[in-house]
Amino acid sequence: MTTRSSGKIAFVVLRDGTGYVQGVVSKQEVAPEIWDAFRQLTQETSVEVTGSVRADERSPSGVELTVTGLDVLGSGTDFPISPKEHGTAFLFEHRHLWLRSRRQVAIMRVRHEVVQGIRDFFHERDFTLVDTPILTGSIGESAGTLFETEYFDLGKAYLAQTGQLYLEAAAAALGRVYCFGPTFRAEKSKTRRHLTEFWMVEPEVAWNDSDDNMRLQEDLISYIVARCLDRRAEELKELERDATGLERVAPPFPRLSYTDAIAKLGELGADIQWGQDLGGDEETLLANAYDRPLFVYNYPRAVRAFYMKQNPDDPRTVLNNDCLAPEGYGEIIGGSQREDDHDLLLDRIRELGLPEETYGWYLDLRKYGTFVHSGFGLGVERTVGWICGIPHVREAIAFPRTMTRLYP
Ligand code: 4AD
Ligand code: MG
Repeated sequence: MTTRSSGKIAFVVLRDGTGYVQGVVSKQEVAPEIWDAFRQLTQETSVEVTGSVRADERSPSGVELTVTGLDVLGSGTDFPISPKEHGTAFLFEHRHLWLRSRRQVAIMRVRHEVVQGIRDFFHERDFTLVDTPILTGSIGESAGTLFETEYFDLGKAYLAQTGQLYLEAAAAALGRVYCFGPTFRAEKSKTRRHLTEFWMVEPEVAWNDSDDNMRLQEDLISYIVARCLDRRAEELKELERDATGLERVAPPFPRLSYTDAIAKLGELGADIQWGQDLGGDEETLLANAYDRPLFVYNYPRAVRAFYMKQNPDDPRTVLNNDCLAPEGYGEIIGGSQREDDHDLLLDRIRELGLPEETYGWYLDLRKYGTFVHSGFGLGVERTVGWICGIPHVREAIAFPRTMTRLYP
């Protein structure tokens, strides 16, 4: 709660987790000790109040509370976060308290809507949720960003970078599956897009090729955005989010091959050659040329993960795509058709020097009834960051983990 008062009347803003209401206390109508207690209340004191509720058109909640009784349950002396401006470092050090601010509450509610929307989307489309392990023996993405730990007598275990490899096994059994959980990358980058622990939803679909995969992605993103606009308008208003860009998000999204993207970037003045991966700046430059999220597909195989299917029409590239969000938010999805040829997959594992002995089970999926299949991973924090229009993914998760943050 927060207070303000004049000589005869005091106001208190109360928060109970369902919303906010203004309480009004009039000196004349309460006992002197209650008036005094009110005057001494400080920010974030927990209280029990009694009184009567009155309709009030001027109030955002539609009601005001005329307070007649007060019990102080926990004092809030010297709450470190005052309504004045604080630096970002200070706020993140006090994240456990900062979460109570209106802005953070609004972000957490949008995040909840995104997560629930994702679950409903897949449930309505008959996907089966398959929870994949967090402790893994096989490297999921690349050797560069692994958190590892000793695992009894079995050597090294890694924190999952992705659930994908396991989901591919599950897709062979169940057809349409998804996993949704925390994933880990020992990213040494301090950009506004990187966390070391982030949440990712990953669908995997038997018989989908790369084009089907992109259609599923545009449907999912459009569904999530529409749902937030519909159900979280108040929160987006609290965040002062200009929603015009979000209102345009509908299929089909524009599609650009990597090769065309390089040409286009050249025209836009970027200094990038065919073969190089797109960085954040190039992603922003490209995405700014469109009015909704953009697919860039068929990247050079050298800059993408080992499991992506070689493009039969141009073996220098793979059948993959990234989805780039507008307004400088960059890649929110990475997806691909998977290499379903046993020998090509094995060649790739060897070529990259990945420990072949840990992939026996994954290669089995190509040995026993291989099948066309595709999937993708959507990063929750980047998606929430974009929808909320906040500058950094750190604010899109309650307790962010980065290279420099392990507390609170
Ligand atoms: O492109 P990525 O690495 O793809 C995969 O992990 C695939 N195995 C997914 C799949 O095909 N099943 O990551 C997918 C998404 C990115 O587009 C981004 O939104 C998010 O995960 N992401 C991160 N978010 C925050 N911090 C990081 N360090 C992230 N790395 C990836
Ligand atoms: Mg990626």
